[in-house]
Amino acid sequence: MDAQQSNSRFKLENVFNLKDRVALVTGGGSGIGLMATQALAVNGAKVYITGRTAEKLDRVANLYSKDIPGQIIPVAADITSKEAIEKLVQTISSKEPALHILINNAGISSSKQNTDAQSAEELQEDLFKHPSGSFDEWDRVFRTNVSQLFFVSTAFLPLLQKGTDMEHGWSSTVINISSVSGIIKLSQRHFAYNASKAAAIHLTKMLAHEVMTSNLKLRVNNIAPGVFPSEMTTQESDEKQKSEIPKEKYEDKMPAGRAGKDEDMAGAVLFTAANQYVNGQTIVVDGGFVLSAGSI
Ligand SMILES: NC(=O)c1ccc[n+]([C@@H]2O[C@H](COP(=O)([O-])OP(=O)(O)OC[C@H]3O[C@@H](n4cnc5c(N)ncnc54)[C@H](OP(=O)(O)O)[C@@H]3O)[C@@H](O)[C@H]2O)c1
Repeated sequence: MDAQQSNSRFKLENVFNLKDRVALVTGGGSGIGLMATQALAVNGAKVYITGRTAEKLDRVANLYSKDIPGQIIPVAADITSKEAIEKLVQTISSKEPALHILINNAGISSSKQNTDAQSAEELQEDLFKHPSGSFDEWDRVFRTNVSQLFFVSTAFLPLLQKGTDMEHGWSSTVINISSVSGIIKLSQRHFAYNASKAAAIHLTKMLAHEVMTSNLKLRVNNIAPGVFPSEMTTQESDEKQKSEIPKEKYEDKMPAGRAGKDEDMAGAVLFTAANQYVNGQTIVVDGGFVLSAGSI
């Protein structure tokens, strides 16, 4: 190989080439899922997006599919049941010979609890007796943020492995969207959510290990975002399915002095999807939030 050929291997379109890859992004109709969807589709991937609200998915497909090399295809589903997951696998298998990229992004937050109390009785009142601190609440959050990741990932293993088998030099990939909330020592007043995200990070590592020991050639990683604008963090999105966080809100709260942007998440998604040498890892994209909040 001459020097020019060697140089061309370093071009962005080679290093981050995701053209014609088939992807599935759960929760692709808003927030971080929409950022991941655009990052992949704008760079040539065919991206299936799923979520419970068909209108959101249709709006995203209509708005963001125009004049791009890739595609965005909506498939409505609530992925917290095995039946729905099996149906989703069937739908994609009937249209595609393989799945190259699975982004398990769908997730929910948990209700907040006060942690300011300075006596055992008050803390018991706020954490044990308060109606939001119920077993049902913990079950709801873990079902969507943890169990669902396990079942969606394992249901798609054969279709993902086909993606690897079809092309030398490519290993299909699962990317779980976890959170810095699963890394930092703070409860952020939502114990169930933070515990679920720590579980999602550990689940990623166990899956990566088990997949490897079963001789499958797949990569399983997770991206742990800091604060990004989404329906979860702002409780709304506009007519383009985008949410906004004013810069002032986080100016003094994290080293970057702002919430994450679309481009910050796009870079993390393209890197994790395209880099064939990253496996079993947590990619933290948080503007330095873990540095200031402190990890366990
Ligand atoms: N934004 C942040 O600052 C931040 C930080 C760290 C981690 N995260 C993680 O990023 C992921 C995306 O959240 P987001 O912040 O972008 O919030 P979001 O805008 O609320 O996105 C979550 C998406 O998941 C979908 N979803 C929820 N439950 C579902 C289910 N049972 N079946 C199918 N789809 C479902 C929602 O659509 P439907 O309601 O229509 O189903 C929604 O589009 C989550 O895992 C979250 O924990 C977010």
